[in-house]
Amino acid sequence: IRRRKISVIGAGFTGSTTALMLAQKELGDVVLVDIPKAENPTKGKALDMLEASPVQGFDANIIGTSNYEDTKDSDLVIITAGVARKPGMSRDDLVNINAGVVRSVTEQVVKYSPDCIIIVLTNPVDAMTYEVYRTSGFPKHRVIGQSGVLDTARFRTFVARELNVSVEDVSGFVLGGHGDDMVPLVRYSYAGGIPLEKLIPKDRLDAIVERTRKGGGEIVNLLGNGSAYYAPAASLVQMAEAILKDKKRILPAVAYLEGEYGYNDLYLGVPTILGGNGLEKVIVLDLTEEEKKALDKSAESVKSVMKVLQQ
Ligand code: APR
Repeated sequence: IRRRKISVIGAGFTGSTTALMLAQKELGDVVLVDIPKAENPTKGKALDMLEASPVQGFDANIIGTSNYEDTKDSDLVIITAGVARKPGMSRDDLVNINAGVVRSVTEQVVKYSPDCIIIVLTNPVDAMTYEVYRTSGFPKHRVIGQSGVLDTARFRTFVARELNVSVEDVSGFVLGGHGDDMVPLVRYSYAGGIPLEKLIPKDRLDAIVERTRKGGGEIVNLLGNGSAYYAPAASLVQMAEAILKDKKRILPAVAYLEGEYGYNDLYLGVPTILGGNGLEKVIVLDLTEEEKKALDKSAESVKSVMKVLQQ
């Protein structure tokens, strides 16, 4: 029996927070990777985290490196490398820079861990996950993007504050691309099993949906420099846990679609089952005409980002 090995590529705000949370949950040994120029700070962050382990009582090795050999035989690889969004910058502005980053990272990852499962966070995540899928040559169930866990986390936070109830009792449901035109499905969202529509007046619920849609931008504007990382890291770790423990959790994820919801050759946020094989199933639901229209719009904006890449 051996401990799982998880590599986190990109040791910036999100990557290092993710590494610490993975270790705190004892999900495996963690390898934190950044560019050669950042090798010493990466080693320093990893050592600092490791030195927290006796205090917090977790057993997990954490190392920092810029050498991909150290990632050899990872079970799971999480890609956070890239440039973060700055105020006034749309996710789409990032597309070309980050596509170059994720391609080069993926080549190295695949070379040393040909059997791993990859979770992508780098934005714009739908298009970046597609780039990783293409570059890796991996089957679709082993290349997954994170967006919906974070989007629903934001929605659940706002709903729980509105109702003054536990966040644990609130469930949310979003479809579509990560961005301002994501599609929160309120009719599939509950608090303690009670449909939210029965608990919150429509105008309040609409305001919560709108705030969820703009949730990333709200944090970007407040931080003034960089984008959200605590909730993104927590979301990555929830997906990682579902896979590493083969929990078969129903979680929203950015999945490769081949006909589901009427889309082909596209990565988009949909409800899925995450387990030991990665993305084990895309759950397909009936949508109302209005929901399908909103999802089409979201899919179109993902496609337009991908067009930027093809040019
Ligand atoms: N290989 C490895 N690491 C890289 C590479 C590369 N080719 N290029 C950049 N990085 C590293 C940077 O050196 C930096 O340490 O990625 C890290 C990014 O960290 P931050 O700038 O702190 O950004 P962060 O807030 O973590 O966001 C990372 O996640 O939410 C998304 O939009 C966000 O795409 C961005 C990503």
